[in-house]
Amino acid sequence: KELIAEAEAFKAQSKEEIEAFRIKYLGKKGVLNDYFAEFKNVANDQKKEFGQVINQLKKTAEEKVSALKEELESKEEVKGIFGDLSRPGEPIAIGARHPISIVKNQIIEIFSRVGFNVSEGPEIEDDWHNFTALNLPEYHPARDMQDTFFIQTNPDILLRTHTSSVQVRYMETNKPPIRTISPGRVFRNEAISSRSHCFFHQVEGLYIDKDVSFADLKQTLQYFTTEMFGKSKIRLRPSYFPFTEPSAEVDVYWGLESEIDHRITKGTGWLEIMGCGMVDPNVLENCGIDSKVYSGFAFGMGIDRITMLLHQIGDIRLLSENDVRFLEQFKSSL
Ligand code: PHE
Repeated sequence: KELIAEAEAFKAQSKEEIEAFRIKYLGKKGVLNDYFAEFKNVANDQKKEFGQVINQLKKTAEEKVSALKEELESKEEVKGIFGDLSRPGEPIAIGARHPISIVKNQIIEIFSRVGFNVSEGPEIEDDWHNFTALNLPEYHPARDMQDTFFIQTNPDILLRTHTSSVQVRYMETNKPPIRTISPGRVFRNEAISSRSHCFFHQVEGLYIDKDVSFADLKQTLQYFTTEMFGKSKIRLRPSYFPFTEPSAEVDVYWGLESEIDHRITKGTGWLEIMGCGMVDPNVLENCGIDSKVYSGFAFGMGIDRITMLLHQIGDIRLLSENDVRFLEQFKSSL
């Protein structure tokens, strides 16, 4: 019985020690064989108890050997994988969010505070959602405003030139009141330079309800620019978009009295940041919304442009080249 306790308490550091233990108990000349040989000499009335004890000892010794072996193997495995466990760990390289994502999230956050949700749609679009529904019928000269990558002609399939296409999809499937912004990548067949690329990113917004006016539009944009750029002045210049009437271009003033950092713009003045307007009744009707009951406004801005302004990026191509030396500089921003 003492041997059982001893076997249970046994500890080993190496294969050799385990093997010595095995030989001592379970080997040919081991303790157990001695006891089994002794068995026939034990008095009949004690045979039962004696038998039980040596069987228990055998079991304990066998289990101990396999448990010790397993323990040792797993330790060696750990060592094999990790080497010296007391060494200091490898530093983890933490990535940075892309500047486009940072600015996009900022814009989403600002508009979500006044009740806009986020809607998304496909980058490969059909002619209806990108053009026709937006009051740009086939052969309309305004189609030339956005040089288009066609994937297939007749029926036309193309890379969307703006995320207004998402707004069309949203109006087709949702009833007013509608308050949604559509961020996403858009494509235009333009020569690549430091200032323009064949793809870039937009956030477009849409607000449809009863009695929505141009004043609501201006106030919403003023709220946005103040949140985005600090205390700022905006100005709406008459412009033209086929899907809005009236239409305007929005300039923000990087003036001395504003909080906008003048290093960004290298001086002061008016800077164009987006297009906007009251949604053309034809567009509402095309999307199944009664233009006699509802009105609304829409706006659209380029995220790349705003990112370049805010982060003093001089070349739009940096935003898609994936140069880690550039991307790493945004580590501290969320
Ligand atoms: N879709 C326009 C563009 O990509 C922007 C815009 C959106 C203008 C909504 C007015 C209203 O240029």
